[in-house]
Amino acid sequence: MSTHTKSTSGVTPPTLRRMKEQGQKIVSLTAYDFPTATIIDDCGIDVIIVGDSMSMAVMGRHDTLSLSIDEMLHHLKLVTRATSRALVVADMPFSSYRGTMDDAIDNALRLVTEGSAGAVKVEGGPETMAEKIEAIIEAGIPVMGHIGLMPQDILSLGGFRVQGKSAEDRERIMKMAVGLEQLGCFSLIVECVPPRLAAELTAAVNIPTIGIGAGPHCDGQVLVFHDMLGWGKSRFSKTYADLPKIIADAVDAFI
Ligand code: KIV
Repeated sequence: MSTHTKSTSGVTPPTLRRMKEQGQKIVSLTAYDFPTATIIDDCGIDVIIVGDSMSMAVMGRHDTLSLSIDEMLHHLKLVTRATSRALVVADMPFSSYRGTMDDAIDNALRLVTEGSAGAVKVEGGPETMAEKIEAIIEAGIPVMGHIGLMPQDILSLGGFRVQGKSAEDRERIMKMAVGLEQLGCFSLIVECVPPRLAAELTAAVNIPTIGIGAGPHCDGQVLVFHDMLGWGKSRFSKTYADLPKIIADAVDAFI
């Protein structure tokens, strides 16, 4: 049985900050459609991330890079229509903020005004993203950072693998976490780093860390919905149900 306490009021960035202060774990999942968002919101998930992982999880692509802002908006609207309690965070697609500053601000505004997102998520540290993150926050939009393995860096990384293994890399990731907090990010996704580094980061910042493949010591955990149900190929997600088999069995029974 879940030990997660479900609050009835809407979750906001300050709620997550309070949860960290009170030692209450944050639970997050991705969702890309109305029925899924309805179920997980009702279960009491605190943060629903409309991740660019949809490009791989539901669109069958090999990476997240080609997801467009219009595709994101389409799925975001399905999720926000279904959600009454969770904070809905929209990933900024790669092409929506890696170009000009004006594009980054306009697209962040579209996610909030057209898509009704409660916040946006941006991959990258202060050395590359500082001005854009500051401008988006200045426009009144809360920003969630994303450090460790950043799937939008696939072209330079050459593959999805654990980050922060060397002392130098650990220091780089720690600096990113502290810098993103200083810029005003309200929380951080920490993806695929050694558990010890995730614990150190979590202690070093006042904003909540939400881990994926980063061990048990973050302030919260997030999983890609399709990975936890047996669809994905994630090495760090436990399979909570074999949904492909359940669906195939139902379809066989119907046939
Ligand atoms: O795109 C995504 O689904 C994400 C999650 C791992 C948080 O970034």
